[in-house]
Amino acid sequence: MPHRSSTDEPSVTIGPLDLRARVDEALAVQAHAFGLSDDEIAVRRQIVLRHITYPGARALGATTETGRLVGFVYGMPNDRTHWWSTVVEPYLRSRGTDHWLDDSFVITELHVHPGHQNRGIGRTLITMITDTAYQPRSILSAIDHESPARGLYRSLGYADLAQQVLFPSAPKPYAVMGAPLPLLRPLH
Ligand SMILES: CC(C)(COP(=O)(O)OP(=O)(O)OC[C@H]1O[C@@H](n2cnc3c(N)ncnc32)[C@H](O)[C@@H]1OP(=O)(O)O)[C@@H](O)C(=O)NCCC(=O)NCCS
Repeated sequence: MPHRSSTDEPSVTIGPLDLRARVDEALAVQAHAFGLSDDEIAVRRQIVLRHITYPGARALGATTETGRLVGFVYGMPNDRTHWWSTVVEPYLRSRGTDHWLDDSFVITELHVHPGHQNRGIGRTLITMITDTAYQPRSILSAIDHESPARGLYRSLGYADLAQQVLFPSAPKPYAVMGAPLPLLRPLH
């Protein structure tokens, strides 16, 4: 059931997203929000289409009244055999935090178009998708520098499980973060 978001942006609705059908719109949002070259978009497209076939993979989208996608989140139950999990596992193991890879819902991507950021859409997307996860915790990776994403995740209860994590394809190091579910709600 789609929900009107709890944001102060009245025209945006947040609800289930058919990521297979709308993969190009989602990647356009990600390209604006995160910065992706055309080559990276082509690679990401294949990855997203594979991810959504994984058991329990789910997506939510933020859509304007005219039907334009302006934000999305997707994730899935973690599986230690998935590529992302195999990359982060040694970093977490060396810090004694690799049990977070079990019974955990992974946030794979979260992006909001720059023209719609800082209005509560990102917070609503990640809170809604994890509220409907059956796992007791959630994990994700984010570029390991101070950013709106890192600040948002911390305010939701995510803490660093490992830092300076290197993915073979990414030039910048990442932090892996984990939070108990349900995520924290703002006090105000
Ligand atoms: C991270 C992101 C998804 C957050 O989405 P959003 O809709 O802007 O987030 P919200 O409006 O829900 O803001 C959540 C918090 O982040 C902070 N924040 C958001 N945008 C910010 C900005 N431009 N500068 C500083 N803080 C910011 C706010 O403090 C806000 O907290 P509040 O609710 O207490 O005010 C969005 O900034 C984004 O798409 N960034 C680029 C892509 C990216 O980094 N994705 C995450 C990959 S790991």
